Order: sequence, then structure tokens, then C-alpha cells
Amino acid sequence: MAFKTIVVEIEDHVSLIKLNRPDALNALNSELLGELATALREAQANEKVRVIVVTGSEKAFAAGADIGEMSEKDFVDVFLEDLFAEDTTAIQRCRKPIIAAVAGYALGGGCELAMMCDFIIAGDNAKFGQPEINLGVIAGIGGTQRLTRFIGKSKSMDMHLTGRFMDAAEAERSGLVSRVVPAKKLMEETMAAAQKIAEKSALTTRAVKEAVNRAYETPMSEGLLFERRLFHSLFATEDQKEGMSAFLDKREPQFRDK
Ligand code: HXC
Repeated sequence: MAFKTIVVEIEDHVSLIKLNRPDALNALNSELLGELATALREAQANEKVRVIVVTGSEKAFAAGADIGEMSEKDFVDVFLEDLFAEDTTAIQRCRKPIIAAVAGYALGGGCELAMMCDFIIAGDNAKFGQPEINLGVIAGIGGTQRLTRFIGKSKSMDMHLTGRFMDAAEAERSGLVSRVVPAKKLMEETMAAAQKIAEKSALTTRAVKEAVNRAYETPMSEGLLFERRLFHSLFATEDQKEGMSAFLDKREPQFRDK
């Protein structure tokens, strides 16, 4: 499908989704969020795709929800349409691993979008923030909940209450991003990580996502039981036999998603 606000390229089992509203620093308007949701559903359905990468430009991953579009709306509008609920659910429903490659600004909804992905690789010029307070609103697609779980209450309150930006080094120190790389090498490093994941069994990448995400939803005892049962169930797969035999034979495993 042809998109207007994103560019999608599929290469070597990776669907690379590039947010593409350069004049507005990739601000998330309803068209972009709708197209992103469609691209993610297509990536989920496409058997060739094993990993998804969401990225922006060198200057901005996304500078937030589109303020011009939001400024036209009142409470009744956003409440009745349940603004942002439908399209962001598509991101959370995706069962394939999603990496956010963040250079430049990831603010407001942009920071929240990055946090909805499975992990974040940041260029050293990345700047994260939840500056909605300066607009008289608060985060609306998970910022108060996810950022708090990523970086703890004190830093999360600081970010949401002051609206300040956090640089890449602080984001890494705080656990918001998994790694920081030179901005020029962001895509190379992210695609290398994506290729590494693409080589794994699709069964185990799904299991990892389900188990890690469970850590946010359940008490520890339930999460541990869920993980153990998933671990047990993987012993019913050919890929478990292959993975362990390959190790013992001192060769690379050939996973077949079975
Ligand atoms: C609409 C935006 C935008 C946004 C930038 N632009 N951010 N348009 N919505 N969120 C537009 C600017 O209006 C400008 O358009 C162009 O992008 C370039 O931006 P500049 O401000 O000129 O660039 P710069 O001086 O480099 O400053 C960059 C910036 C600043 C610090 C990122 O643009 C900024 O503060 N943006 C808003 C960030 C923000 O408040 N995000 C939270 C949004 S609320 P023109 O036409 O003038 O060239 C939100 C709610 C989430 O996300 C709730 C659920 C999704």
C-alpha cells in the first residue's frame, strides 16, 4: 500500500518503517498514526518480515502529537473518538519484535511511541521529553505509565512536571534506552541488531515478547509461572532440539520456526 506520511521498505526480513513528515519534525497526526498502524498490521501479516524497525529522521524521531491538529479539538471530540486509542493499540498487538531507532527529538507522543516499541536504540544526538505540560495537557499514550516504569518515579515526575529534555547519555543511564550509538551509525547498528534477531526462531522471539511484557502486567509469582510454562512449552518445538543440538555439535543453528 502507498503511504503519504511514512515510508516502508522491506529488506532481508526487516520491515523498516520511516516516519516521514519532515516539515513538522514527524509530528504524529491522525493520518500518520493510521498509516503506521496499517504498516504494522501488514508487517505482522507478511511472512517474510521477522523484525520491524521504526525510525524518523536525523533531526527528529517524532516531536510529539500534531499540535495544530489537536488544537482544533474539544473534550467532546477527543472523548468520543477516544483519541489515539485505536491506532496505538495496533502497535501493542504486534507480535513481531519492534525496535525504535531514535535520532534527534522524541518528545511527547514521540517518546511514548518509542517506548511502545520493544526496545530503543538511540543516536547520541537523541533528546527525549514529555513536554505536554507546556501545552496545558499531560501525556496521552502511555507516558506517565511507561516512563515511570522505565526510569522510576522521581525522574519521571521531573520529566513530566518540568517538561525538560533528557539527552541520550542520561536516557541510557536511566534505563530508557538499551544502547547509545553515534548518530551517523544509528541505522547501521539498528539494522545489525534487527538481523541478529531475524536469525532466531520466530517461536522464541514471540515467547520472549510475551514473557517480558508480562512483567508489567502481573505480580512476580504469576510472571515467573507464565515464563516457566512458556519455557517448558518450547521443549515441544523442533527449534529447541535444533538449538541445543547445534550447540553440542559446535555449529550455527538453523531455525525453521517449528
Ligand atoms: C506540530 C510541530 C510539532 C508538533 C514541531 N512542529 N513539533 N508541528 N506538532 N508537535 C513543527 C513546527 O511548528 C515547525 O513548523 C517545524 O515543525 C519545525 O519546528 P521548529 O519549532 O521550528 O524547530 P526547532 O526550533 O528546531 O524546535 C524543535 C522542537 C520544537 C524543540 C522539537 O519544534 C518543539 O518544541 N516542538 C513541540 C514539542 C512538543 O511540545 N511535543 C509534545 C506535543 S503534545 P513550521 O511550519 O513553523 O516550520 C503530545 C501529546 C501526546 O505529544 C499525547 C498522545 C499522543
